[in-house]
Amino acid sequence: MGARARGYDLADSSAEPGLALHVAVIMDGNGRWATARGWPRLVGHRRGAERVKEIVRAAPDLGIRYLTLYAFSTENWKRSTEEVIGLMGLFSRYIEREADRLSAEGVRMRFIGERGRLDGKLRRLMDGIEARTAGNARLHLTVAINYGGRNEIARAARRLAQAAADGRIDPAAIDEAALDGALDTCGLPAPDLVIRTSGESRVSNFLLWQAAYAEYEFTPTLWPDFTPDELATILSRVATRERRFGGVAAQ
Ligand code: IPE
Ligand code: IPE
Ligand code: MG
Repeated sequence: MGARARGYDLADSSAEPGLALHVAVIMDGNGRWATARGWPRLVGHRRGAERVKEIVRAAPDLGIRYLTLYAFSTENWKRSTEEVIGLMGLFSRYIEREADRLSAEGVRMRFIGERGRLDGKLRRLMDGIEARTAGNARLHLTVAINYGGRNEIARAARRLAQAAADGRIDPAAIDEAALDGALDTCGLPAPDLVIRTSGESRVSNFLLWQAAYAEYEFTPTLWPDFTPDELATILSRVATRERRFGGVAAQ
């Protein structure tokens, strides 16, 4: 069984550039990283944003074609106003400062999550970079902002229910593919691997539907300390696993 059976294989992916490795990351530990140094949590988020730039730059050479990053959950509004506003400012600045580089490097940037609650300026920046990079395909970078898996599934269900109520679809035609197509991630393949930093072994509402058969890796490294080297190490370790998708082991 070759690369397809395992879903990803670094050796195969360089030989076969069409192989679409999708890695999703729960970037956790910014606050603890800063607190351990006696600094405000926002300093950790700023350092975390620097790590995002490095990982995005390194991803294509590691065989990653789809990179999905969890930046702000539907539950993160529970944090202090200062932290929430600081994070939203960081997202805007990231888009403003990285737009030229992302476009030049062939990155297609998209966002998942419910946008209605986000500030108008940030939403315009998000729409702008999505439109500007829509023709790129070297790396599909998806950032989850005000994202929650349950919220996403509920919105998808609402969309399908509305379509059925309007007579645009037959309720009997609502199957897994229809729900999949109504999610924010429509058009993206399912993640092959979900990595969570900071030592927590939980999913925290990330890609609940899409990660049904993903491999998971949990590392104690705090996100501001996570490097492309560690990512490469994780990828080579995971590449030796056999994915069975409910079938039987390969002979
Ligand atoms: C992850 O780091 C970033 C976001 C959730 C926005 P945290 O801010 O959760 O850092 P810890 O988990 O408190 O250390
Ligand atoms: C998950 O981290 C969300 C993001 C990384 C954006 P949290 O820090 O919010 O998750 P919990 O609270 O530890 O589950
Ligand atoms: Mg956290």
